[in-house]
Amino acid sequence: RSDEEQQLRKLYEQSQNLYHHILVNTQLGQKALKYLHQRGMTDEMIATFGIGYAPEKTDLLTLFFKDKQVAPALLEKSGLLTSTQNNTLIDRFVDRVMFPIRDQGGQTIAFSGRVLSKDPNKPKYLNSPETSLFNKRKILFNFDLAKAEIRKNSGVLLFEGFMDVIAAYQAGVKNGVASMGTSLTDEQLYLLQRVTNHLVICYDGDDPGQKATNRAVDMLMPNRRLDIGVVVLPDAQDPDEFIKSHSPEAFRKLLTDGEQTSVRFKLDYLRRDVNLNNDKFKVDYLNQALQLLQSAATPSEQSLYMQHLATELGIDLAAIKTQFEQLPSRR
Ligand code: UTP
Ligand code: MN
Ligand code: MN
Ligand code: MN
Ligand code: MN
Repeated sequence: RSDEEQQLRKLYEQSQNLYHHILVNTQLGQKALKYLHQRGMTDEMIATFGIGYAPEKTDLLTLFFKDKQVAPALLEKSGLLTSTQNNTLIDRFVDRVMFPIRDQGGQTIAFSGRVLSKDPNKPKYLNSPETSLFNKRKILFNFDLAKAEIRKNSGVLLFEGFMDVIAAYQAGVKNGVASMGTSLTDEQLYLLQRVTNHLVICYDGDDPGQKATNRAVDMLMPNRRLDIGVVVLPDAQDPDEFIKSHSPEAFRKLLTDGEQTSVRFKLDYLRRDVNLNNDKFKVDYLNQALQLLQSAATPSEQSLYMQHLATELGIDLAAIKTQFEQLPSRR
């Protein structure tokens, strides 16, 4: 079993080196390299993250591993190959930019491959299947490199995508991680809590990203040992797009000056589609906001946000406070 793990690790390392070599040194990789450069990624980042390219061939790995005496069963187990209806093994990753997924020790244990084309029939990102090495609930992209930064930066930044982590890194923000295309799991949270008590959610500014932020805040807010911050990106951009359309400096400034409390995020999120000219909506919103303050805010936050609400809604602060005191107590 541990012998098999060793063999799988070696297989992943060799494949990563091959994909990287194809990207940076060969004609086959030109198209993908141009794509990454056009997206603004530097050669330094391509090297740091070991990015590669799986060309438009379905027998690349079979041929590559043939003379390396690797058992076909192991190749199939790795998930790098997949078997067809007539039982031949072909490459799983074809014509994709390859992002190595590393474990905490920095070894590659899986890949995520991004399509180059805008073909709507293909998933944009394709991940390795789970193996004895790769459990996606337990892995955070870039945690191995970010760990030291998280400790000294006193906090972790949680992004949605690999490209966001890499673009932030390139902009000098090295304490970023991303989960594997899913919401944050308890196992990932446990890993993070061992190195920090400050977590900042920096998901995409679009609707799905804000929805995911709301869910993450709901999951994390009851955790009293964690200080949660939220950064909302303007104009529905994701961090990668923001850095490109503004600047690295603007991004770093947004992270330091734009971090909001989780309560503030929830209040803004609650109010998103509320028409405050309608008294009924206004009163409903106030009730929900007060319940949120009751269940999730510190006393000073309660005071601060009741003042905000009074101003925002044009309602007397004393009335808001009385109503807050009269809420049925929870728990
Ligand atoms: P996004 O759609 O926001 O992608 O999905 P992105 O990170 O901005 O990627 P680019 O900039 O278009 O290259 C966010 C994350 O969701 C997961 C991936 O982990 C991705 O980074 N995802 C997305 C998938 O796993 N599969 C998909 O088909 C799409
Ligand atoms: Mn997104
Ligand atoms: Mn903070
Ligand atoms: Mn995105
Ligand atoms: Mn993006």
